[in-house]
Amino acid sequence: MQSVETPDSGPTLHIVGGHPLSGHVKISGAKNSVLAIMAATLLCPDDCVLRNVPNLTDIQRMNQVLESLGIKIQHEGDRLTLDTRHISTSKAPYELVSKLRASFFIIGSLVARLGTARVPLPGGCAIGARPVDLHVRGLQALGAHVRIEHGIVHADVPGGRLKGGNIYLDYPSVGATETLMMAATLADGETIIENAAQEPEVADLANFCRAMGAKIRGAGTNTITISGVPYLHSVDYAIIPDRIEAGTFLVAGAITQSELTIGPVIPDHLSPVLAKLREMGSDVVAEGLNQLRIIPNCRKATDIETLPYPGFPTDMQAQFMALMTLSEGNSVITETVFENRMRHVAELVRMGADIRVKGQNAIIKGVPFLSGAPVLATDLRASAALVLAGLAANGKTIVKGLHHLDRGYDNLETKLQGIGAKLERVAALDHAEA
Ligand code: UD1
Repeated sequence: MQSVETPDSGPTLHIVGGHPLSGHVKISGAKNSVLAIMAATLLCPDDCVLRNVPNLTDIQRMNQVLESLGIKIQHEGDRLTLDTRHISTSKAPYELVSKLRASFFIIGSLVARLGTARVPLPGGCAIGARPVDLHVRGLQALGAHVRIEHGIVHADVPGGRLKGGNIYLDYPSVGATETLMMAATLADGETIIENAAQEPEVADLANFCRAMGAKIRGAGTNTITISGVPYLHSVDYAIIPDRIEAGTFLVAGAITQSELTIGPVIPDHLSPVLAKLREMGSDVVAEGLNQLRIIPNCRKATDIETLPYPGFPTDMQAQFMALMTLSEGNSVITETVFENRMRHVAELVRMGADIRVKGQNAIIKGVPFLSGAPVLATDLRASAALVLAGLAANGKTIVKGLHHLDRGYDNLETKLQGIGAKLERVAALDHAEA
């Protein structure tokens, strides 16, 4: 067997496409909620129990970041217990923060709890430069003195306690909203964050903080008001279902023209995704309060523009592009959130897709079939798009770069095998010998 030459020597996913899927997929807890909520546990000098935590390398990395600060963590199944009584240092190590951008968000909770924090700039990543200027300006508005030296953000609060303030975000950044909301929970007085991100994970973080005793109103809208409290207490909290994982499995149904059910989900969180699936020829119906059934009828082209919530999520762009490659007619995707989130295009083209990229637009002309090929995942959601394309393609697709997939999908192969997909993970040694 031939394997594509790439710098990545990890395991590969071998997918034999063209098999119909059927059955039910259990959706795990939301990655982006857990990461922010883990950062927020630093606000509370006690035990925090998190349930419905997915099994992901991003979570393991966040565990390592928190452990480097002296936090004691027990991870059993989908339950995390974090003992945040003692924080031994306010300095997060570069080697860990650079591997997981979301770990930068600890700057908000660290500075709120300790009055000081040293967190390395996370740097850019595969999908864009991803600056943290909005986080920094917001912390300054709450009274922190912030300077950047040798790649490390130093935040210090004279007197030790942040002061409530008014923050207007130039862009509704998810991470900046979360960092600043966490910081404001323990500040002296009231903070108002305007043009805040409205993503469900922001609301989940607010609910978690409220369960610890924080006073937060308006999370999930564009204006969040936080009245600071002197301390927060221990909590036992279950994470919401992952809307992006759910959306990915719905696209698996649509691209293979297979009827599937998924759950638990919060259907409202998936509104833009469901609207586009319906436009593209699938019925999606609710079954009970927290389950969805997709009934595909055909695959039709549509247009998508990624936007902050409640707009269409950038984290579903690549998966929908895979679906569009096999949909009748011409589709256009406009990516407005990240400047470099089209790297999956070249890989889909290797499978026979007809896609042209012009600036932030991709024009996708539907083709009758894709053919399996060796492809390289370039980022987390790109890896999901390639798996989806592989499920629908003729013949065998070999996906490399699985460390991206493992960051954000809990047991993807097992879940796909459970609904009839023909795929297996092959260890690096095996495919080198094959
Ligand atoms: C979060 C999600 C990620 C998702 C993204 C957008 C987590 C852990 N990750 O990332 O999966 O794709 O939201 O829905 O929750 N920006 C600035 N300055 C800043 C902060 C952001 O210019 O200080 C820009 C970014 O470069 C990007 C845009 O704002 O172009 C959106 O980024 P943001 O909403 O902050 O995304 P993240 O929180 O990093």
